[in-house]
Amino acid sequence: MTKVNAAITSVGGYIPEFRLTNAILETMVDTNDEWITSRTGIKERRILKGEGLGSSFMGIEAAKEALQKRGIDPKDIDMVICSTATPDMPVAANACYMATELGCTNAFAYDLMAACSGFLFGLGTAAKFIESGRYKNVLLIGTDKMSSIIDYTDRATCVIFGDGAGAVLLEATEEPVGIIDEVFGSDGQGRQFLKIDAGGSMLPASEETVAKRMHFVKQEGQQVFKFAVTNMAEVSARIMERNNLQSDDVNWLVPHQANKRIIDATAKRMGLDEKKVMMNIEKYGNTTNGTLPLLLWDYEKQLKKGDNLIFAAFGGGFTWGAVYVKWAYDGAK
Ligand code: UT7
Repeated sequence: MTKVNAAITSVGGYIPEFRLTNAILETMVDTNDEWITSRTGIKERRILKGEGLGSSFMGIEAAKEALQKRGIDPKDIDMVICSTATPDMPVAANACYMATELGCTNAFAYDLMAACSGFLFGLGTAAKFIESGRYKNVLLIGTDKMSSIIDYTDRATCVIFGDGAGAVLLEATEEPVGIIDEVFGSDGQGRQFLKIDAGGSMLPASEETVAKRMHFVKQEGQQVFKFAVTNMAEVSARIMERNNLQSDDVNWLVPHQANKRIIDATAKRMGLDEKKVMMNIEKYGNTTNGTLPLLLWDYEKQLKKGDNLIFAAFGGGFTWGAVYVKWAYDGAK
């Protein structure tokens, strides 16, 4: 029997209009453009404004674009996965609502939560459903409204994160393209370094938790940085070894956009020239589940059928991993 592969066949993206620049942040907290640029590579990030708009709003827009570009009937989608750390509501998955709004009435849907590695784990998950032979078309949406969980009085986090969403369509194919391999990891010791203290089952919301600003992201940046550099570089090198890929064989690194220094270290470990590294952190900051599909959205025109892409991510939990994808279509078309 021929092996069924899961190929990315379309990409969509959405970024909100409002640009929160480093200059504006200088008026909000004790920071400056030089520090933010040299430590992170970020110049501005987008913020979703508008009463009642959650992460699903951006995800739906991104998914609509992906579906329309491919010209596929939403009724032919078998499954919708939404990777997000900021669902519209704590209960009632974004994915179910989004699938209905998109007209994917024959799909089953759920959310996947793995912080900044969510989209990457989503790629692996979507691929497995397709490879089983039982599902043909899967829509994977990564969306985060990070501004809803960021404390804009905390300079350690508010300069880093932004809002945005991206979506990919994955389809079954017998061609030797698509998701080829993945290496995933996690380590619960990491949760002390990157978390939201309250609002979960351990410490439900109360007047006290709100007063103490415990519903916002807290990050011990240096600790996370150390683990991120090591793990993202390791796992990217490992997936190359496992698939007998030399530096010259890799056309693109598609790295989670948390910090330009982490990305540079990963590329160095893989022996890649910076021209092969997708990067848009300067425009959007860290959009958590949005980073990887937004890179594809920005670089799609440059991609060619048969290109070897290595996706890599690191996030809260801790979670991390790398995915090897053989690109399935010429982006310029
Ligand atoms: O995507 C999920 C995973 N997350 C990550 O991968 C993030 C990993 N961590 C990082 O990217 C970096 O740790 C940060 C960008 C968050 C911080 O950079 P850093 O080089 O690790 O800075 P630091 O936290 O060690 O702080 C260095 C100094 C401190 O001052 P002192 O103690 O040396 O006087 C901070 O108080 O910089 C200060 N600082 C700032 N200064 C100006 C911290 N934040 C700021 C700021 N503006 N926004």
